[in-house]
Amino acid sequence: MQNVQDYISKNKERFLDELIQLLRIPSVSADSAFSQDVIDTSEAVRTALENAGCDTVEICETDGYPIVYGEKIIDPALPTVLVYGHYDVQPADPINLWNSPPFEPAIKKTDKHPEGAIFARGACDDKGQMYMHVKALEFMVKTNQLPCNVKFMIEGEEEVGSNNLAVFVANNHKKLANDIILISDTGMIANDVPSITTGLRGLSYVEVEVTGPNRDLHSGLYGGAVANPINALTKMIASLHDENNHITIPGFYDKVEDLSQEERAEMAKAPFSLDAYQKALNITSVDGEKGYSTNERNSIRPTLDVNGIWGGYTGEGAKTVIASKAYAKISMRLVPNQDWQDITQLFKTHFESIAPKGVTVKVTPHHGGQGYVTPIDTIGYKAASKAYETTFGKKPIPQRSGGSIPIVALFEKELNSKTILMGFGLDSDAIHSPNEHFGVWNYLKGIETIPYFYHHFTKMSNRT
Ligand code: BES
Ligand code: MN
Ligand code: MN
Repeated sequence: MQNVQDYISKNKERFLDELIQLLRIPSVSADSAFSQDVIDTSEAVRTALENAGCDTVEICETDGYPIVYGEKIIDPALPTVLVYGHYDVQPADPINLWNSPPFEPAIKKTDKHPEGAIFARGACDDKGQMYMHVKALEFMVKTNQLPCNVKFMIEGEEEVGSNNLAVFVANNHKKLANDIILISDTGMIANDVPSITTGLRGLSYVEVEVTGPNRDLHSGLYGGAVANPINALTKMIASLHDENNHITIPGFYDKVEDLSQEERAEMAKAPFSLDAYQKALNITSVDGEKGYSTNERNSIRPTLDVNGIWGGYTGEGAKTVIASKAYAKISMRLVPNQDWQDITQLFKTHFESIAPKGVTVKVTPHHGGQGYVTPIDTIGYKAASKAYETTFGKKPIPQRSGGSIPIVALFEKELNSKTILMGFGLDSDAIHSPNEHFGVWNYLKGIETIPYFYHHFTKMSNRT
């Protein structure tokens, strides 16, 4: 690959400025107050793909936000890389915890990012990582080094479950036909410990509602004599884990794949400091399922977590009341072979069955998706590994992630192709949290590494 470092150092300021412009548009897909901004962002992505050298770019309308599709087909006999990313972002709340406004990007140095990091909602998840691919394409096209065909599919509803993308993919097998899918929407271990994500967890997300008396009651006049929905809900939730932090839902673990001792030993080789982990989170101890390490707990094991809980009086001061209703939002992270719809059903049946006398329970499923594991004995993985080796000077470590990108399993089912997850973010980049950021070094390293993937993948495909 000629001049990629040169090209980046000459264009670095512009690459940063362009990303900053994109980050200024608050494309929050979850909140309809931002709907025009989400649509404006799709237009900005379209223009960026045109400028980078795609031959055709279209805005594909859906029942929700549009999908931006672009392609450059240089020779149908050559392999085709399909790049997926998302231009929508998580809500910025709570805004008051941001040190600079979430949609006014600022570059600041941090311990982990001595060369500076861009602070903005979406900087890492996923505008910054998606834009690395746009700039890598620009480099390959402008320097006549694009070795194969490329298709881009950038959606605006990843953070709300990708329901319309699933329909689009099912209806467009031909248009989306490819040899490998390439995504940068995950992380790596550290800037000096490159890794490639080889797994994602599945997800089942549900909301529960517990109803007691038909109205809020005086907690003195009725307290002790009727079931309190908040008491009932918290007890029910507490019973979902046993003393070893195993999940108690019958059948929950039935399909969980147990890794061999060899595989676990291999995983344990990844560098990890428990002390640094605890310090970074300001906790004095970690906690989780008995018999598993922290890295196993957050990647190869399934979980159940309350994401939000409410009910009764939460305003200033005190109000003596027994609420009529209590609510919680619960996520279950799943591992390969656990079917998210089956798990959702198991949860519902179990949760309804443990309701104490005097309350009724309603379980409403939100969204979900399957987990994914990518094999490492494929040319896709090997090409990615070689690319990292070239630009990081070290062989990357394969590592499963705890996060979810449900559409990846669907890509495999619908398009019959594997996905390579080349993530350049760090866990400490605070995605979904206040002060999300993305290292300038990471952004540029991604732009540098991606063209090598195209190069090696095309060569290993033996189609020239
Ligand atoms: N990019 C993340 C997922 C991710 C981050 C995977 C880091 C691995 C490492 C994605 O945008 C995301 O937030 N996914 C959601 C699920 C989705 C259905 C809302 C998640 O994991 O909570
Ligand atoms: Mn993402
Ligand atoms: Mn996300």
